[in-house]
Amino acid sequence: MAYAEVNGVRLHIRQQGGGPVALFVHGFPLDSSMWIEQIDALSDLRRCISLDLRGFGKSSPVTGAPLTMDQHADDLAGVLDLVSEEEADVIGLSMGGYVALAFAERHPDRLRSLALIDTKSGADSEEAKAGRDAMAERLVEDGRVAVAEAMQIGLLGPDASVAAQARVRSMVEGCRYETIVGALSGMRDRPDRTAVLSVVTVPAAVIVGEQDTVTPPAEAQVMANELPDAVLTVIAGAGHMTPIEEPAATSAALRNHIERV
Ligand code: MLT
Repeated sequence: MAYAEVNGVRLHIRQQGGGPVALFVHGFPLDSSMWIEQIDALSDLRRCISLDLRGFGKSSPVTGAPLTMDQHADDLAGVLDLVSEEEADVIGLSMGGYVALAFAERHPDRLRSLALIDTKSGADSEEAKAGRDAMAERLVEDGRVAVAEAMQIGLLGPDASVAAQARVRSMVEGCRYETIVGALSGMRDRPDRTAVLSVVTVPAAVIVGEQDTVTPPAEAQVMANELPDAVLTVIAGAGHMTPIEEPAATSAALRNHIERV
């Protein structure tokens, strides 16, 4: 199945492997291809499904309404319904982590395990909210390339390979303008979900790049402390794009996580 009709939209899906389902949720403004290595590495343990969230990648375009974390979380549940699975291991990077936490809150009985990578549970500060609005304005004035250049500095660590830089840049530059604007407002208005962590009793993994400046290791430590059953892994040499910058180390951490579920 390459596409799933869920909640009135068409979502593009990558699938590999068999067994219980693991859902991989990409960050902003990326797409399902960011997980290629991890899906390959885990496909002997799980039916790995990486989707393009609504508006992103090859999924249906959106009209410009905010792309809320809640709607994305409900889309994940819709994908599970479609493949007739009760629960999933949910793995999210950054914005995908915000979505995974919304899923944990809205569909707790469907969560088999949770992996949060380079993300945080808190809401945006007032300064961060203003930054979202400024980025949306810059996007429509100066174009996606300008935004890609501005973002790349924050997303990747100083040691990121040219190949990793190229992958991130392709994804950022391939993202629709209206999706970027919708996602910025959805992230700006997302609630603080720190309280959700303490009720996630399923096995959890918190993974963070040592050089992540967007959601630094200190944020990861806070989440690991709040989660009742979490293993924290700090990945050397990675910034905010750990699965792309250090794919093997990320896959190994996820494998350890899935093996203890
Ligand atoms: C991401 O990588 O998904 C973004 O950095 C998340 C954010 O901007 O908060």
